[in-house]
Amino acid sequence: MDSIQIEGGICLYGQTKIQGSKNATLPILAATVLIDGTSRIENCPDIADVSAMINLLRSIGCIVTKEKEAIVIDAAKVVKSNLPQEEVTKMRSSIMLMGALIGRTKSITLDYPGGCIIGKRPVDIHLMALRRLGVQIEETENTIHAWTTGLRGSSIFLPFSSVGATENCILAGVCAEGVTHILNAAREPEIDALCEFLIRAGACIEGAGTTHITIIGVDGLQSVTYRVPNDRIVAGTYALAGVICGGEITLLETPTEHMQKIMEVIRHLGATIWEENNRLIIRRLQTIRALPYLKTEIYPGFPTDLQSMLMVACTIANGRSIIEETIFENRYKIVKDLCAMGADIEVENTKAYIGGKTRLQGKHVIAEELRGGAALVLAGMAAKGTTVVENKYFIDRGYENICADLSQLGSRICVK
Ligand code: UD1
Repeated sequence: MDSIQIEGGICLYGQTKIQGSKNATLPILAATVLIDGTSRIENCPDIADVSAMINLLRSIGCIVTKEKEAIVIDAAKVVKSNLPQEEVTKMRSSIMLMGALIGRTKSITLDYPGGCIIGKRPVDIHLMALRRLGVQIEETENTIHAWTTGLRGSSIFLPFSSVGATENCILAGVCAEGVTHILNAAREPEIDALCEFLIRAGACIEGAGTTHITIIGVDGLQSVTYRVPNDRIVAGTYALAGVICGGEITLLETPTEHMQKIMEVIRHLGATIWEENNRLIIRRLQTIRALPYLKTEIYPGFPTDLQSMLMVACTIANGRSIIEETIFENRYKIVKDLCAMGADIEVENTKAYIGGKTRLQGKHVIAEELRGGAALVLAGMAAKGTTVVENKYFIDRGYENICADLSQLGSRICVK
């Protein structure tokens, strides 16, 4: 199994282009099932989770062709609604096929979805919302069987603004009879992207980007071409690499409009960050300042997906920082590795107290999940000596080519 080897302690100077967004691509690929025709999705990242979604689409009868710049999905012959266990359990986004397949074939059977081990990640809100739309659901220990005699619009209040549950409701609602209101909907930009795609295909959706989304059911959707936006989490990862290592880097084709909170936090850390025509430039010449307190929040707050990378920055900051994780309860898995590299971090319930002023030492560490794995790579870049991050495959779930990108920024990093 591949590892990543990093020679740390090098300032970054260089530029790299940001890939397409994973979290936008996955629900959009699931949404193509609703279209009795061909969808052409451009700018999809070439990552493991996208390959898993393609395998799921093929398993139900879609003809999927990968071109250089696009994935083309012909969903005219969706024949099956049983999803293969091996692919479903690889990633949580397989749950997106529930709303889409019920919309198309009126039934679905799948195993409980997998994904990174960063918390309990139940699907109760998804199932509650689908029930409200007229879906019958039977759960066994490992599987979910759902069917409907006809989806009906309804008002659904989400007890938590779950990104996935909002997306599933939208997918089930677009071809339901009548009007669906999603209240306390998530506002993540990836939901806007899904709605934009569906609207182009003929769906009638209002309020994307707000906490109240209204969907007026339509009879069917038509063939469409759509370009997914670039990945704000990958851009945030590399921006934080620039903060952690120092120097000056430029991120090309960055979705800066969705990164305002990330930019604000980077400024608090003492770096200079500015945007110029979709490019994000990060310059850090002085010591990093500590963060007295920061919590992860739903959008537009600071994203949980960048919490681990921020923690690495705090280990070398000039003072004590406190980070609180409010979205996923098990997202401090890298703390033991960072402590092995010399960091001073204590975790109490949802809060992490980070000592700061640490000169991290290169170590052999093991990635246990996607974003934590990327954060360990950043820790290796800050550390003295050589770091090896094992289990590169976790990082490949979300980063097209982290080694090439970070090399372009000046890091001494390679696949081992
Ligand atoms: C999505 C993103 C993920 C990001 C997360 C939060 C994708 C493919 N993944 O994941 O990168 O970290 O949003 O921004 O877009 N919850 C329940 N019951 C449910 C659903 C969720 O209790 O039915 C809880 C989860 O356990 C978690 C919290 O709600 O604690 C947030 O989950 P959610 O917003 O659904 O995240 P995902 O859609 O899985």
